[in-house]
Amino acid sequence: MQHIPLIPYPDPIPAPAGILILLEQLFFLIHIILINLILGLGLILFFKWKREKNFFLVNKLIAKKIPILFAIGINMAIPALLFLQVTFGHLFYTSSILMGTFWILIIPFLIVAYYSSYVHYKKFDISWIAKYALLLMIVIILYIALMLVNNLSMMELPEKWNAYFTNRDGTIILWNLSSLYPRYIHFIVASVAVSGIFYSLYFSKKDSTKSHEGLKIFAYATITQIIVGIWFLISLPKDIMLKFMGGNGIATFILVFGIVATILSLIFAFKSRLKISLLFLILTLIAMVINRYNLRMFQLEDNLNLSQLKLVPQWDVFTIFTFILLLGIGVIIYMLKIAFSRPNEVRK
Ligand code: HEM
Repeated sequence: MQHIPLIPYPDPIPAPAGILILLEQLFFLIHIILINLILGLGLILFFKWKREKNFFLVNKLIAKKIPILFAIGINMAIPALLFLQVTFGHLFYTSSILMGTFWILIIPFLIVAYYSSYVHYKKFDISWIAKYALLLMIVIILYIALMLVNNLSMMELPEKWNAYFTNRDGTIILWNLSSLYPRYIHFIVASVAVSGIFYSLYFSKKDSTKSHEGLKIFAYATITQIIVGIWFLISLPKDIMLKFMGGNGIATFILVFGIVATILSLIFAFKSRLKISLLFLILTLIAMVINRYNLRMFQLEDNLNLSQLKLVPQWDVFTIFTFILLLGIGVIIYMLKIAFSRPNEVRK
């Protein structure tokens, strides 16, 4: 076992690691789908932008959804963050500190991006400002995503932490890490794909041309994603890559399952079978989240042993937390129902 003295001792965990990780990954899945939607819908609107009445008429309701999705996307990140901190906190805090300057900037930038999404909607069909507000939102989201990809990659690779001895400014970005680029681009392309299918679903009963257009966006983004996915896989250290290619049975199965689901969702998209395509996309996303977790555990193999984490049960706190969390989710679902239930109404 490689000894890395820089790793702090982990704190005891209040519930079995398996439960905490399951919840973390579940909320991560919800978080990332919502973030995919705000970035992808933002990009679709930006590149389709036309100063035409018809464009505004058709897309205003999509613009209205972005701030709502934004707020829920951030809300769903919080449980993911909490569960991540409990199990991987000693790694995550360290990597956050190593890039602390860029990391802390996420907060003010996030506030600006959130307001920009509102400005975009409010000024959508009345001012040129809308397009630039959307651009600002997109640029900030791209910044935050890069910081998250960097932080989570760095968290998983404690051997990179030595960089601290040559850079104490809190500005460490793993530019030399070959998997950083495909991991980041994988997120961007996924955003376009997920949003394409959402766009198609949204217009499925209203406008078949638009719905078809959404499916086309999904299909081309997914074809691109297959290439980016292969790039991601081969950018990994060889021993880890090989685990996904037969070396580890479960990891290989999940990867193959994800690839098959992707291809099926693509085939059904080309056949304009929206719902089945969506079903396979959801299966793909679940498989990809598990792949990402497997990658984390393979990378951390020498540095973290979950079974060695000290368990000091706090079931009372855990139960109260879970109860409040479920209550909060119930309120959000109710809020969503109200927000999405009047499709024809555009309120100023
Ligand atoms: C618009 C803003 C945001 C964007 C674009 C974004 C994007 C991302 C991306 C791309 C990842 C995956 C990184 C990777 O592993 O490669 C991620 C993970 C994560 N994000 Fe966000 N995020 C945003 C806001 C937030 C906020 C505000 C929080 C905290 C409250 C947060 C918490 C997390 C956590 C905890 C994970 C990792 C979850 C896990 O590994 O289980 N995110 N985010």
